[in-house]
Order: sequence, then C-alpha cells, then structure tokens
Amino acid sequence: MGLKEKSSDLRRRMRNALKGGGDKAIEKQKAIGKLTARERILAIVDTKSFYEYDLFVEHAAKDFDMDKKYLPGDGVITGTGTINGHPVCIYAQDFTVAGGSLGWMHAKKITKIMDHALKLKVPLIGINDSGGARIQEGVNSLAGYGEIFFRNTLASGVIPQISVILGPCAGGAVYSPALTDFVFVVDKISKMFITGPEVIKTVIGEDISMEELGGARVHCETTGNAHFYAESEEMCFSQIKQLVSYIPWNNARKAERFPKKPPKTRQYKLDDILPSDPKHPYDVRDVIRAICDDSEFLESQELFAQNIVVGFARIDGQSVGIVANQPLVMAGVLDVDSSDKAARFIRYCDAFNIPLVTLVDLPGYLPGVDQEHAGVIRHGAKVLYAYSEATVPKITVILRKAYGGGYIAMCSHHLRADFVFAWPLAEIAVMGPEGAANIIFRKEIMSAEKPDKVREQKVEEYRAKFANPYVAAAFGYIDAVIEPDETRKMLIHALDISAEKKISMPPKKHGIPPF
Ligand code: HXC
Repeated sequence: MGLKEKSSDLRRRMRNALKGGGDKAIEKQKAIGKLTARERILAIVDTKSFYEYDLFVEHAAKDFDMDKKYLPGDGVITGTGTINGHPVCIYAQDFTVAGGSLGWMHAKKITKIMDHALKLKVPLIGINDSGGARIQEGVNSLAGYGEIFFRNTLASGVIPQISVILGPCAGGAVYSPALTDFVFVVDKISKMFITGPEVIKTVIGEDISMEELGGARVHCETTGNAHFYAESEEMCFSQIKQLVSYIPWNNARKAERFPKKPPKTRQYKLDDILPSDPKHPYDVRDVIRAICDDSEFLESQELFAQNIVVGFARIDGQSVGIVANQPLVMAGVLDVDSSDKAARFIRYCDAFNIPLVTLVDLPGYLPGVDQEHAGVIRHGAKVLYAYSEATVPKITVILRKAYGGGYIAMCSHHLRADFVFAWPLAEIAVMGPEGAANIIFRKEIMSAEKPDKVREQKVEEYRAKFANPYVAAAFGYIDAVIEPDETRKMLIHALDISAEKKISMPPKKHGIPPF
C-alpha cells in the first residue's frame, strides 16, 4: 500500500471510531437534550483548537463476550485545546459507547491526559457521563478509578481541575469530581449518586427518583457537591469559559489581567444599598457589584449555604476572590455549611494566587443544638484555618456588624489580613448590644423597678460605647475607617501595594486542617 492507500485506510479507521456508539445511541442522547461527547468538547474549547489523541485505543477485556465487542475509543475522548486562547487538557466520556462505563483502557486514556495536564501545568476539564465501573472488567475498573483519584489528589492545588457532570455519574465515579476544584451540573441532565434508586429501594426500602436523589438542584442546593448550576449544556459551557477567565493556568502563575472597567455605579450606589436601620437586611451582592469592574461577579455555590457569598470578580482588571456574609439570609451568620463553603473557596484562591477580598457583616456563629451537634466547632474552625494559612493578599472591609468569633474569623488582622477597613456604620464587639447588656447588667436589670426600661438604657449604653469602629481602630485592629464610596479606591490601592507580597510559613510537611 502506498501513502494514498494508507491515508484512505486511516480515514476509514477514523470514520469508524468517530461514529461512537452509532446513530441509534446518539439519537437516544439527543432526545433527552444531551450533546455528544465530541460536540461537548468542541463547544467548550476555542474553534478549531481541539486535537484528539488515542482515538484508536481499544479495550483488551475478554470475559462476558467482551472480546467480541468493539468499543470506539473505549468510550472516552481525550485531547488538548484552548479556551480564550489558554491551553487546557480535556476529556469527555461517551455514554453512547457501553454507557461511558470505565474499563481499564478507558481509565488509561483519562490518566494519560491527566498526566499531560500535570506535567504541562495546564487546567484539566473532565466531562462525566458514565454508568460507572465497567462491570465486565471487574477489579481492573476499580484499579482505573484508583489511578484517577490518586492523580486528582496530586494535581490538587497545582493545576485547576474542573468537573462537568453531563449524565449519570454513579458509584465510584462520583469521587473524581469530588476531588476536583469545581463541579458544574445541568438541570435534568446531571445525576450523581453513590448508590442509585434501585439499590436504595432494595437495601432500605426507600422510594426516590434519580432526580430527587442526585439531580442538579439537589447537588447545588442541598449537598453542596456542585458549584455551578445551569439550565442547559450551552449555558454550562459559557459558565466554564467565564470561570477559566478568572483563574490562572497553574499555581505558579497569576490570573490574566484584564483591561480595567468602572462599576455600573448608576445601578449600584453604595450609599443607597445599606439600610439606615442596622437590623434591616440588604443583598451583599449589590455591594460587590458596586465595587467590581463592570459590576461583574461570578458566584460559586450560589444556591448552597446562601448566608455566605463567594465568587470571582475583577478590581481594576485584577482577578480577586470575594467572600462576603449575606445579611439577606439568616443575617449572614456562619454555620456548618457556610463555614465549609467559605473555607474551601479561601483555600482555592490561596492555592492559585488570587487575592482575597472579604466583606464582613455578621452577628457571629449560629447558636443552637442542631449546629453544635452538627459540629459547628470543627466546621467553623475551617474558616479560621483557611484564612490563617492563606498567604495571598488579604483585604477586609467591615461593612456593618462584626461580632464575636465572626469578627475574628472573617479575616481580621489577627489572622493576618494585610488591610482591614471599616465603614462608619461598623459595630465591632464581643456580641450584639442586646445580648451583652443582658449578661453584664443582669443583676441591675433584674433588681430594677422597671427592668425593661433599665435594659433599654443599658443596651444603649453598651451600643454607644462599643457598637462602632473606633474602639477597634484605637487599638489598631482597623487600619482606616472609610466612607463607603472610598471602598473601591482603597481596595485598588491595597491590591496594588500587595502585588509582590511573599510570606513564608513555618516549615512542615503539611498542616492538619479540621477536615
Ligand atoms: C457496563 C454499562 C454500565 C456499567 C451502563 N452500561 N452502565 N456497562 N458497566 N457500569 C451499559 C448498558 O449495559 C447499556 O449497554 C448501555 O451502557 C446504556 O445503559 P442503559 O442502562 O441502557 O442506559 P440508561 O437506561 O440511560 O441508564 C443509565 C444508568 C444505568 C442509570 C447509568 O445504565 C445503570 O444503572 N448502570 C449501572 C450503574 C451502577 O450501578 N454503576 C456502579 C458500578 S460500581 P447496551 O449494550 O445495552 O447498550 C462502581 C464502583 C466503583 O462504579 C468504585 C470505585 C471506587
């Protein structure tokens, strides 16, 4: 055979492999709103930037008639491409081929592209759509998962790892996404669970649908396993592209700087956002939009533990991670879930050189038997740990309340914030005036002729003395008390001046965070 014949043989082989599971299986996917694995990759990466590898990999399994089955690409597509011009390694499981199930060679393709990503120091995107371990391949499938989990862990904090759940992600398959940085899900398409409805019915007799057990909303609202929720695959891909624009390719780089843009101050006026009554709530996302470039904010875990808001924005063109208490939900308290959410995000930003901007307005940690028994001590400690070990620039603005443990935890100077600013409305104290007065003046209040009147007086006395930023400022715990409309200017300056910040921590193998 000459080159011409060899080339035509290559094209024939490629056509064969590119068919995936065939027209019928593809139609079944399309009928439920799913794109094919290749279409998904092409929709995420820049046009004409995708290069596929290992198209001709085949499984070598023999049992259960597997030796008679041709599984194109062994059910997974792997390759490299660019997003907004930046390189990425990417793989997508192909459900049309044996349900995207993971056999040994399928796993080898994934681990090979993971090794590339780690060696070349570029982000890794994994699109999951699979029935889990390929049952016919037995322990080799389990071995494949183990190899993936190990690499996910090695790559953690070195390169960004993004998981996209676009179909079933069942059994052991869930643990790779769980080990990665961000999990994207799509309504009615994503389904994630360790044991499915049938097993649950058999083992404990509970009836539940796949959607109710592990659908997109469940993982965004209830479990917190997913970070970004979309109504369609297209919307999901545009979220991925947005996220990638805020983060660096690897932990040795900084995120790309964008041209600076002013916030949309006609729409978001800081002076109008905060209500005059300190007890009234407001949406802290309006404050974020009032200080960030173009008022753009990419919120992570928007539907989970909504009493804290975390996400990415730019200030003067520079990517920042924002952590903000949300007075609109449970007065912005820290509890088990919001502590987990904040701590993980803080660690992400620290690992990838993204400065942290913290906006504080909270009455403290949430009291209650449920919280105590759910381990609020352990979970709450994660926030202290994450802020304390973070060495990126840390800038804190106390908007209103900063009481008790909440004051310390939300990136105070004591956890080595570089700058702490407070608005004139800030109240910084061990606890709120009502609680404080009831404790320290209890005897006086109880023995008074008119206890309510005395209580009111004492609350006012306490408020006048402590519920302001000046006591903390007098000790130097606040660097500057600023007018709200000076916030962006102060943040820009603080970020500029901290650009070369370098801190070395005591030598250790690693710390032991309160996981
Ligand atoms: C081999 C599989 C498979 C699997 C699906 N298929 N899952 N083949 N191993 N795990 C095959 C089916 O046989 C079928 O092949 C094709 O993929 C499409 O599957 P369907 O069932 O027809 O599709 P659908 O009705 O959409 O249902 C999808 C599903 C279901 C819900 C994912 O297939 C399912 O429940 N699969 C098993 C899920 C599971 O229990 N996985 C856990 C494995 S144990 P044909 O040839 O008919 O087209 C595990 C532990 C790992 O993962 C632990 C690591 C730590």
